[in-house]
Amino acid sequence: MVMPEELIRSAENAMHGSYAPYSNFKVGAALLCENGTIFTGCNIENASYPAGICAERVALSKAISEGHQRFLSIAIVGGEDGEIGDYCYPCGICRQVLAEFVDADFKFYFKNAEERIISYAMEELLPHSFSF
Ligand code: THU
Repeated sequence: MVMPEELIRSAENAMHGSYAPYSNFKVGAALLCENGTIFTGCNIENASYPAGICAERVALSKAISEGHQRFLSIAIVGGEDGEIGDYCYPCGICRQVLAEFVDADFKFYFKNAEERIISYAMEELLPHSFSF
């Protein structure tokens, strides 16, 4: 069983791969599949700003493209220059993209500079989400 601390550690390692020369804000994410596999991602910016992608969607894309569609939780960390500051909450697009694949009780884990780990459920971060 993968504990939140381990998932956070994976997210912190993934943050080191971040390519963020424009915002200087580095983000790492670690997505836990139902079978225990962890997929990580980092933000990848681009000179054409909207072409950049968030860490969470990189992790999700890697998992989906490798045949995984069932997930339990995700850990997200970030900060300026890769120094974790406040909790790094996911943007609205990432919440919606994750909502496509997860249940209401899917968990998000965050860590701040004081090393405090907190969690929220999908239904808390994106209530009443859109679906067909
Ligand atoms: N970013 C993420 O990677 N995930 C989020 O949920 C919020 C923002 C990235 C995008 C951009 O590279 C940088 O953080 C600053 O917005």
